[in-house]
Amino acid sequence: MKLDQLFSPYQLTKDVRLQNRLVMAPLNMQSSLFNGAVSQNDLIFHARRAKYVGIDVVGSAYISDSGNTAYGSISAADDGKVKGLKQLATVIRQGGSAAILQLVHAGRMTNHLVTKGQPVLAPSPVEAQHGRVETPTEMTSAQIETVIQEFEQATHRAIDAGFDGVELHGANTFLLQQFMSPASNQRTDEFGGSLANRIRFAATVVSRIMKVANNVSRPFIIGYRLSPEEIEPNGLTFGDNLVLMKTLAALGVDYISLSMKQYDQTPTTCPELKDQRVADAAKLAVGDQVPIMVAGHLGTQFGFERATGDLMAVGMKFLTTPDWPAHVKNSGIQPGENQGVSIPYTAI
Ligand SMILES: Cc1cc2nc3c(=O)[nH]c(=O)nc-3n(C[C@H](O)[C@H](O)[C@H](O)COP(=O)(O)O)c2cc1C
Repeated sequence: MKLDQLFSPYQLTKDVRLQNRLVMAPLNMQSSLFNGAVSQNDLIFHARRAKYVGIDVVGSAYISDSGNTAYGSISAADDGKVKGLKQLATVIRQGGSAAILQLVHAGRMTNHLVTKGQPVLAPSPVEAQHGRVETPTEMTSAQIETVIQEFEQATHRAIDAGFDGVELHGANTFLLQQFMSPASNQRTDEFGGSLANRIRFAATVVSRIMKVANNVSRPFIIGYRLSPEEIEPNGLTFGDNLVLMKTLAALGVDYISLSMKQYDQTPTTCPELKDQRVADAAKLAVGDQVPIMVAGHLGTQFGFERATGDLMAVGMKFLTTPDWPAHVKNSGIQPGENQGVSIPYTAI
């Protein structure tokens, strides 16, 4: 994408126009207060960066103590947090950016210390192979319904706090992805087994929070973030995720965000598409109606011009250099990048 296009306004939905196509990728800075309330650090972090982007995604707000992914995360788990969330949405919107709250349930990717003693829940009692984790409890049908309601309640809180939308965190091996993956979902009920059954949890959460959003008198964005594939044996394949993306498109999500290591990566679990970029295959699957957001080592003119996708999300560069977009926009060159000037060897 050319820099001109990147820094020009973008019509995300019929009612929502973004100041540009740049996105601050969701970053869980683990800087919130002990009880998950928004801190001064959270406010300062977002205030310094939101002015440069079209969308600022606040990373990994947990919907219940049981779904907390890490110490210091932001909580959207009870009404007492709305006041701080409102301050956060306000500083982001003052920067001219849309404020999106990413909602997460950790599933098995947590432990009882982080959840403050609440059970670690997952589709099946299969322990993850990495992270500070423990063997999770298999969710009952009633617990599945409870978690869906927690997503709805957290969406209500995001609305009350003045956010412009929510993004479901279906990436990075958290609960929504665990239901999709045959490696972590070994259920034999209507939420496990066939692909249609493994998609059911994500599709139900999306439809239920859309109903919440549709009852609001202002535009409210619903995004979905996913990791394209899992490389572990029996893991989630890119082919399965393409079907999920088509399902999300049919349900009417406002964007799909791809959580990738590298913006131009190709799939490894789908031999037929091995020469096609993940971002391009996703776009073909969902069609023009649904914007695709890409991420992964973006932050220089070179990268943006090579990247394909409708929205460009940047993580690490924002962590280290809050105002980097100003440098790229003004000169096309990002600080630290090779500017074609070299020091003669003999002068060193
Ligand atoms: C410190 C840190 C925290 C992150 N937190 C989240 C998060 O809460 N939710 C999420 O979806 N991705 C999270 N990510 C992934 C980023 O959103 C992004 O996809 C990744 O860093 C790749 O983009 P980059 O190369 O521009 O950093 C995090 C990454 C970092 C470095």
